[in-house]
Amino acid sequence: MDKLVIEGGLPLTGSIEINGSKNAALPILFASILHTESLSLLNVPNLRDIHTALKLLNLLGCVCEYQNGRVTVVPGTLLSAAPYDLVKTMRASVLCLGPLLARTGQACVAKPGGCAIGVRPVDQHLKGLESMGARFELVEGYILGRCRKLHGARITFDMPTVGGTENLLMAAVSAEGETILENAAREPEVVDLANFLIACGGRIEGQGTSRIRVVGPSVLRGVEYPVMQDRIEAGTFLVAAGITGGELLLRNCPVDALDALILKLRDMGMEISETPDGVLARCTRPLRCVDVTTKPYPGFPTDMQAQIMALMCLAEGAGVIEESIFENRFLHASELERMGANIRISGHTATVRGTRRLTGAPVMASDLRGAASLVLAGLAASGTTEISRVYHLDRGYEKMEEKLARVGARIRREKETANP
Ligand code: EPZ
Repeated sequence: MDKLVIEGGLPLTGSIEINGSKNAALPILFASILHTESLSLLNVPNLRDIHTALKLLNLLGCVCEYQNGRVTVVPGTLLSAAPYDLVKTMRASVLCLGPLLARTGQACVAKPGGCAIGVRPVDQHLKGLESMGARFELVEGYILGRCRKLHGARITFDMPTVGGTENLLMAAVSAEGETILENAAREPEVVDLANFLIACGGRIEGQGTSRIRVVGPSVLRGVEYPVMQDRIEAGTFLVAAGITGGELLLRNCPVDALDALILKLRDMGMEISETPDGVLARCTRPLRCVDVTTKPYPGFPTDMQAQIMALMCLAEGAGVIEESIFENRFLHASELERMGANIRISGHTATVRGTRRLTGAPVMASDLRGAASLVLAGLAASGTTEISRVYHLDRGYEKMEEKLARVGARIRREKETANP
């Protein structure tokens, strides 16, 4: 396993190129199961989760190839089984359920377990697909689904689930008749999936609102589609500028998808402005803590909660962070405390009291965005920070240490020696 070693305390200055979005590319990759023609996706980030999805698609019979951000998919004879050893490494594999049912009338997908941040149930996915005519049973940890032909339905989600909306969207474009998704997720990544399906010939309207209407069935044609930019990678680097007291220009930054985050960073005292070359983020004065509650889009993104917590550890005053989406997404707090942070957790709420400095320490990543928050804290801390289990970070950030080193960070990747 790898670790990252950071000598902190240096302001970051320079420009960073933002990659394509992991959370937009994953559902779009699984949507290729619906196709009978070849298609190409551009701007696909080179990440562990992407390669896990490609491995699963190849196993299912879609011949995929990844080269320099471009994925070509040649559909083949579809199998319909997604094995546990792949699904357990990436929960998003459950997004093959809707397309497989729509395309083959059957699906055998390992029930995704929970992960560090929560139980991560899929009841909304199954309930929605059942109302479209699918029947499920759970056999030895596998979700076995069958349907004669999916038909349109009116579905109201209990909560605006991103994955649930994406699974049902993919099923609905191939189902017979009209489907209405109420209380649908409004995330930009859901919109990107809808726009991809429309580009292939799907009949969808209302994406980006809480009510999406789909009319099927559509025969989807092959297209060449560029995936949207990664708003969470961009948000993470905005925080990197703030926590190091530096100045970063983010090229290809999806600024329109970052309103709630940018509002909070400006409230803390950061200067964030749009320029012809990209988004300029700088920190020229001491920051102050704010209160944050994570919400479904367009609210403050839960995927930026760990990162803004790291920033608040070094800001003036105190702030309360409420994590309203996942039940266990504060695992990074105890690691930040090892670096001198002052954080009190009570249920879904974390109270952060800013301190004047953090000191480097050996810390351990437990999940993707928690790993990012430890990198940010290490960049600002005095002394050396070693972050173990960096494979969490590699799931969602492409060459993060190289990008940071290019703007002045003293950061390197090393092989993790066995514990002495
Ligand atoms: C997506 O996960 C993202 N992953 C997550 O990003 C992100 O944190 C999350 O949306 C929320 O924005 C991908 O897009 C691959 P949900 P997803 O279904 O679809 C509950 C990252 O760091 N729920 O919107 O799994 C669930 O328990 C990852 O990149 C049900 O109860 O999220 C959670 O509390 C982490 N039943 C809430 O809804 C269901 O059937 C939101 O989950 C589905 C969800």
